Amino acid sequence: MKSELIRFSVAMPEDLLSEFDKLVARRGNAKNRSEVVRDLVRDAIMESEIEDPLTTVMGTLTIIYNHHANELTDKLHDIQHEYFGNIISTTHVHIDAHTCLEVIIMKGEHEIVQLISDRILGTKGVTHGKLTITTTNED
Ligand code: NI
Repeated sequence: MKSELIRFSVAMPEDLLSEFDKLVARRGNAKNRSEVVRDLVRDAIMESEIEDPLTTVMGTLTIIYNHHANELTDKLHDIQHEYFGNIISTTHVHIDAHTCLEVIIMKGEHEIVQLISDRILGTKGVTHGKLTITTTNED
């Protein structure tokens, strides 16, 4: 259900507003100042909510590894089976003859998603990785 739009005025320094307008312009014609402010407010609220370790979040972990590394593929596989209830999907891409990219999509309490991510990123042979957390505000 959509809630009613309320207008309010915001005061800000001219140079900050000028930078903000450049951001609005970069987001394209479909977005105006109000829409970008709403996006930023939603981002800030989400950031604040996911600080709670018990908030249900979606996590997307992207990792890069060399599949020749010692038993790495088995270790990564074992971790993912251990948390099968939290791991929704995994996509594997062979980047070149040696290097793999994997995107692991997870759902669960923030602390569990962070733990799985830390275990995978801490596995020897994973050369790079990044976890992105988001939430739908639905628990
Ligand atoms: Ni591969």
